[in-house]
Amino acid sequence: MPLVGTKEMFKKAYEGGFAIGAFNVNNMEIVQGITEAAGELKSPIILQCSAGARKYAKHEYLVHLVKAALEISDIPIALHLDHGADFETCKSCIDGGFTSVMIDGSHFPFKENIEVTKKVVEYAHAHGVVVEGELGQLAGIEDDVNVSAENASYTQPAEVQEFVEKTGVDSLAIAIGTSHGAFKFKPEQCTRNADGVLVPPELRFDILAEIEKKLPNFPIVLHGASSVVPKYVKIINDNGGKLADAVGIPEDQLRKAARSAVCKINIDSDLRLAMTAGIRQHFAEHPEHFDPRQYITVGRSYIKDVVAHKIKDVLGSDGQADAVMALIKK
Ligand code: G3H
Ligand code: 13P
Ligand code: ZN
Repeated sequence: MPLVGTKEMFKKAYEGGFAIGAFNVNNMEIVQGITEAAGELKSPIILQCSAGARKYAKHEYLVHLVKAALEISDIPIALHLDHGADFETCKSCIDGGFTSVMIDGSHFPFKENIEVTKKVVEYAHAHGVVVEGELGQLAGIEDDVNVSAENASYTQPAEVQEFVEKTGVDSLAIAIGTSHGAFKFKPEQCTRNADGVLVPPELRFDILAEIEKKLPNFPIVLHGASSVVPKYVKIINDNGGKLADAVGIPEDQLRKAARSAVCKINIDSDLRLAMTAGIRQHFAEHPEHFDPRQYITVGRSYIKDVVAHKIKDVLGSDGQADAVMALIKK
């Protein structure tokens, strides 16, 4: 099965009130863990590579790893550039086999964001590739860009229509309170529940609703949507890690978002935490092991577990692979 774009995935997701998981991939075991889970659950997925992933593993390895996964699975998979910083990066991914790219002009003023996004859309569409743009700024760290919570800004609903019309983007990433990484909120921004667990402020569903009204039937993307699953943080901390006060987006809020116009939910930190938890636990139990296959196998199975959980309990995309494929073949 060839790589696919995201148009049909998003159409089904919008109509069906679910979201497609966009999982970041950096090596073979991450690709395997994700695609094994998605394959068993018959879920369409997006595998995405950041600039950091391309630097770490090289573009060619990533594309071939994803193509290998396609050969042994029967689900629709899109290969997406995450946070493309400029036209050249997007072009190199379009030329190099990606089926979807993000041009992240969110740090530019509105007019410049439109200009660079439009340029990418023109090139991408001419090559059959879809484009995600971004309006509003998330807090957190992605590659070399570190946006402090003070500099993060919500997407302004008044701008979305003009942005989409002038750029021609196929989907739009918005800022409604999510952020990148495992420390999404400072403890002082949160309350504590009865068990002492940090509870972050609610996402701005009011802004999402306004955006939905301005852009009917248009796919919205949520970045920074890891839940920082407490189970994995605990395993890490119980086995020598130091991740005090790590906090993410509660899963019930992500489920709510998935039922709305949000059609793509980006998850990276939860994969990192799951893999690290598995490997730390393995080393604690087997300090005599030194064959990477022994501990990375466990890391990979933790990735598979967390992805299966996301697909079934958060995204709701299980069992949707055939319907997406049928729409693609139409
Ligand atoms: O948006 C950020 C993603 O988690 C990618 O992270 O730039 O460290 O690969 P990275
Ligand atoms: P998390 O850090 O919350 O996993 O977000 C990942 C992301 O948005 C990738 O673009
Ligand atoms: Zn992101």
